[in-house]
Amino acid sequence: MGIKWIVNGNVKQSDKTQTPLDCFSQEEIKSVRLFINYFKEYKPTPLVKLGSLAKEMGIENIWIKDESYRFGLNAFKVLGGAYAIGKYLSKKLGMDSNELSFEKLCSKEIKKKIGELVFVSATDGNHGRGVAWAANRLGQKSVIFMPKGSAKARLENIRKEGAEAEITEYNYDEAVEYAKKYAEKHNGVMVQDTDWEGYKEIPTWIMQGYAVIADEISEQLKVQGVEKPTHIFLQAGVGSFASSIQGYYSAKYGDQSPISVIVEPEGAACIFKSASINDGNPHTVKGDLDTIMAGLACGKPNTMSWDILRDYSNMYVSCPDYVAARGMRILANPLGNDFKVVSGESGAVGLGLFSILTQKEKYQDILELLKIDQNSRVLFISTEGATDPLGYRQIVWDGYHPMPVEQNTY
Ligand SMILES: Cc1ncc(COP(=O)(O)O)c(C=O)c1O
Repeated sequence: MGIKWIVNGNVKQSDKTQTPLDCFSQEEIKSVRLFINYFKEYKPTPLVKLGSLAKEMGIENIWIKDESYRFGLNAFKVLGGAYAIGKYLSKKLGMDSNELSFEKLCSKEIKKKIGELVFVSATDGNHGRGVAWAANRLGQKSVIFMPKGSAKARLENIRKEGAEAEITEYNYDEAVEYAKKYAEKHNGVMVQDTDWEGYKEIPTWIMQGYAVIADEISEQLKVQGVEKPTHIFLQAGVGSFASSIQGYYSAKYGDQSPISVIVEPEGAACIFKSASINDGNPHTVKGDLDTIMAGLACGKPNTMSWDILRDYSNMYVSCPDYVAARGMRILANPLGNDFKVVSGESGAVGLGLFSILTQKEKYQDILELLKIDQNSRVLFISTEGATDPLGYRQIVWDGYHPMPVEQNTY
């Protein structure tokens, strides 16, 4: 047990056989932003510069995008769910989504044309809250199934958005199967953040929705006179989020894309496992998928995402829970004039990992492999705030999930 990593020896720059990234072209993402811009709740989330922390870690700069501010929903996920639902409805209505605003979709006239729909999903919480929110705004129903062990607070937040929601007896992947059966039986529309045979369109729209985050970052960095980070750390569950940010950067910059690290919990490291087996295919992790990083507790990669992460990402890392807990505590206790960021378990693992790599001698090799030095400008995305407030306090106030003593030497 401990931090494990694999370098992607297969990254071939400018290789024509690499997975195409057309859906992340600047033109495509412009049209996603047009749609998302129409929401009255829309506003770019803060990109927080942690200058004092960067100094402490011996690099030029650190930025962390704070997705706890997204639409007042405490996580980034709504970007994907809302865009996918919008695209689904515009297709159903035979309209161009560029002309279609969410406000228009909410009109009585459109509702009459669409009829009554039920959107169905399986989720750790954040995705379901986004889907429930979007369905509610459209005056439609949603039914959400959560994996066993999901936090009550997350369940209640989904119910507050008007969804029928329950915590099941299943792990995430089994809950997806259960939701699929429910949708088939009740004529529901699955809005799932992962793919399977014959189900690619909605997950692609979801991934495109997430890419808004990277596009906002580009604008925010430009204002600071910075074109792009040198490194990005992206956490993965099924990999849709990580592949959308990776896809955005690789589509925009090709070989000049930032060096990327894909980070997962050791209890559910399916991208890491797939990279270790290295036969080009995605591989599943079975069992309880036990981790405090609920958003990342997924055993089966999104196959479209895996293709992107396999072809373009530079390193895959599997992390014990204490890594995320350390990241949460660091972000809650800023140095110097840095701002505080309230980051949940799945949001903080990338920064937690980076803090350990830069502060513990034994990881010097990884820093060298990643070419991290005093000129590095590193980007993290805190994908959620304290979505499980009790769990957050247990970690940040009470010190749950400490770093093991044998790791804790400098
Ligand atoms: C807070 C948070 N971060 C990251 C992720 C990972 O996203 P993906 O499953 O697309 O890899 C999730 C997924 O639910 C999440 O809730």
